[in-house]
Amino acid sequence: MKRLGWGMIGGGEGSQIGPAHRLGARADGRFDFVAGALDHRAEIGRDYGTQLGIAPDRAYGSWQDMLAGERGREDRVDLVTVATPNATHFEITKAFLEAGFNVLCEKPMTMTVEEGEAIVEIAARSGKICAVNYCYSAYPMVRQARAMVRNGELGKIRLVVTNFSHGHHGDATDADNPRVRWRYDPAQAGISGQFADCGIHALHMASFIADDQVESLSADFASTISSRQLEDDAMVNFRMEGGAVGRLWTSSVAIGRQHGFDIQVFGETGGLRWTSEQPNQLVYTPLGRRTQIIEKGEGRLHEDAQRLSRVAIAHPEGFPLAVANIYCDLADAISGEIRDGLPLAQDGVRSMAAVHAAVASARENGAWKDARPSIFR
Ligand code: NAI
Repeated sequence: MKRLGWGMIGGGEGSQIGPAHRLGARADGRFDFVAGALDHRAEIGRDYGTQLGIAPDRAYGSWQDMLAGERGREDRVDLVTVATPNATHFEITKAFLEAGFNVLCEKPMTMTVEEGEAIVEIAARSGKICAVNYCYSAYPMVRQARAMVRNGELGKIRLVVTNFSHGHHGDATDADNPRVRWRYDPAQAGISGQFADCGIHALHMASFIADDQVESLSADFASTISSRQLEDDAMVNFRMEGGAVGRLWTSSVAIGRQHGFDIQVFGETGGLRWTSEQPNQLVYTPLGRRTQIIEKGEGRLHEDAQRLSRVAIAHPEGFPLAVANIYCDLADAISGEIRDGLPLAQDGVRSMAAVHAAVASARENGAWKDARPSIFR
């Protein structure tokens, strides 16, 4: 199997998501880390890149230098990961797609729906892959859940209930901490705070497992810490194109919840429950029968769950390995085998349309809004 060249923008020293990408991209030996513009401070970024083993001429001081340097090389990178703050995703992703690179962009993919639609179009025109890092969808037991829904094991889906709520911004005395404050500042975070940050993971997951798309939504937003201009809590009701009803709660002030991402899917003949804090188990209750726990790595899983169960049964599967599964699917895609399940720009723009619909709905007292980008109506 050909080893692919990989480069990264953002994810510098001390960043939150950078280490997960470096572990994930290299976990299977399918990508070599050969280029990067890792920091917004040129010198610091170059130093850190060389410390991580990048050759000095490919440890760039800015993404513009990286674009100029890589586009002319015979051995140019096969994939560029964009792991910078949200407001920069669009221009970087657009520039690299237009120059003929495959891109994995962090979420939220863009700030506006129009930018998201432009990315979908540019990716289609360039023939390059633009994926979005909805990494939770790459846990083996999430793939198992989707395969069970597709296989009819739950019957027609009636209801999806999902939460992505934590309490890490719940301390009002810490609200002015610059690491926290920017997330609720429209100039830096955009139109939405907690819903665009964590809620869209849950909304993508609902579509992913139910194998359906969100059609409309009604949102109630709250800034429970009054100095915040953007919401730190949101309750979003939604309807799916196939008729399922959805409920989503996302919060950053739920003190006591650590990384509380869970989802329940209820169909006519059964229900499923998955939670990110116990990602190896899927709880399944067939109608009229006892509840069962399906374990990662056990026999008789669906093929996609089996393929991505890289650690033996009873051993924990960590978050970076879900990111590794995204890179595994990307390596297959770049090599010509498109894997069903890889979150793409289409998923990224659906999230942006949902964010803008939720903000409009919350401003109009929960009025129902079409949650789809115009290209998918
Ligand atoms: P962070 O603030 O911890 O790190 C950002 C990094 O990007 C820093 O190293 C900074 O120097 C660098 N940077 C900023 N501007 C740059 C530029 N113009 N060129 C090159 N480097 C630049 O941010 P964090 O938390 O790592 O988030 C980054 C992105 O990842 C965000 O979009 C966030 O939403 C997303 N994220 C996704 C997660 C997931 O579950 N998929 C989890 C955490 C973050």
